[in-house]
Amino acid sequence: MSQRPVRNQRQYDFIVVSNRLPVDSVIDGDGNQAWAPSPGGLVAALEPVMHRHDGAWVGWPGRADLDLDPFDTDGMSLIPVPLSEAEVADYYEGFSNATLWPLYHDVIAVPEFLREWWETYRVVNRRFAERTAEVAGRGAVVWVQDYQLQLVPKLLRDARPDLTIGFFNHIPFPSYGLFSQLPWRTQIIEGLLGADVVGFQRDADAGNFAQAVRRLKGFATKGQHIAVPLTDPNPGRRASGPVREDGPTRTVVARKFPISIDAPYFRATSHREDIRARANEIRADLGNPKVIMLGVDRLDYTKGIRHRLLAYGELLAEGRVKPEEVILVQVASPSRERVKSYMDLRDEVEVTVGRINGEYSAIGHQAISYHHHSYPREEMVALYLAADVMLVTALRDGMNLVAKEYVASRFDNDGVLVLSEFAGASDELKRAVLVNPHDIEGLKEAMMSAIEMPPAERAMRMRSMRKRVFEDDVEKWSSGFLDTLTARRTAEPT
Ligand code: G6P
Repeated sequence: MSQRPVRNQRQYDFIVVSNRLPVDSVIDGDGNQAWAPSPGGLVAALEPVMHRHDGAWVGWPGRADLDLDPFDTDGMSLIPVPLSEAEVADYYEGFSNATLWPLYHDVIAVPEFLREWWETYRVVNRRFAERTAEVAGRGAVVWVQDYQLQLVPKLLRDARPDLTIGFFNHIPFPSYGLFSQLPWRTQIIEGLLGADVVGFQRDADAGNFAQAVRRLKGFATKGQHIAVPLTDPNPGRRASGPVREDGPTRTVVARKFPISIDAPYFRATSHREDIRARANEIRADLGNPKVIMLGVDRLDYTKGIRHRLLAYGELLAEGRVKPEEVILVQVASPSRERVKSYMDLRDEVEVTVGRINGEYSAIGHQAISYHHHSYPREEMVALYLAADVMLVTALRDGMNLVAKEYVASRFDNDGVLVLSEFAGASDELKRAVLVNPHDIEGLKEAMMSAIEMPPAERAMRMRSMRKRVFEDDVEKWSSGFLDTLTARRTAEPT
């Protein structure tokens, strides 16, 4: 691993490292290369952070075999990390999204443990760490993001002990009973412990991580603090019991930092005359139904889209909702389309939507308006404003920023949020209608009570949720994390 900066390479004091850059390289209709915003909530959350720091963002440009020089866009310096076609298949689609993703989301889909995927994950994590080490100035702060890069903190610390390293896990961290299935569990824990601060969405995630540290490495944990020996007595291996505490240690902080959204953006956009007009236009285009229910998700099996459709289909079958009065708008943005479980999910969702529409739609009144693409942010705000009921029925979700975006957009204090208790957002948005999406009868009741909720109760719940989202926005999340991180630097000078 390169220990020294590359000559003529600009150095940065603050670096974000994530699997994807904030923009994806795409081929436009004329066959030319263009840039599009990356999918997922991570980029939307980190963009405002980057604009406040004169830092660099290290990540993959979203297409295989692209070897690009660093470039600037929208006031950010981007440092591309190339991936070959085989690496995209084994590191990204394989180990990240067919091993770790299902394992960390409570095994909703069966994780696959392939040794060649693990080998590629190691190789690619090393490449990210090397590229970061090249562009990091002396004593820089490096913030590594998410499950695709869990080995990077240790690789970076070994190469550049002068750096202050943070890691934030955007998805859940599973209970030890599930995590321990992973053949490379010890290496993952060692990788993460290379950070000074390891952040999670919920207390439960931080607790699961601390337990994995105790069980696999035998290191002592006390509250948020983990005592990591400067010299690991069992490098690369599981410890047979607790490690003696008399040698020198460094402290790793592991705790929750619930991520949020750029709430002022949603407030400002939702107030705009053109956006409000667009919301009215959407309502009219949908046939002016009495109630618009909305689902907005990446097309992912963790989001509980199947459960939502099942519950809604039963309500239609029982005549409790009528297509002349109620419509479900489902936006399902394409995601990980070459991974088998995602292909299967798409087929199942689209067959179900087709069946429900075939059975219950009337001329001019569709039961479900289904959209398999993503929309620009402004259009999303108009949709949020048009939606009387927002359905977030994830079976497991680190946070779910859509729930917070909906709340932040409802300046009229109207609209009802139906929210899964398995989404991290439910820790904060307690005045949502909380559901267990596995309980289909309960989900149906929740939908009905949302549809029928009196205006005064809607306003009371929405006001309380808005207060929370505006108090704890993305600015608070990032400054909370980065303040904790810089405090570690002062606490433990290298
Ligand atoms: C989730 C993950 C992100 C990821 C995003 C989009 O939000 O936590 O790390 O970037 O999904 O998924 P993709 O695989 O397209 O990057």
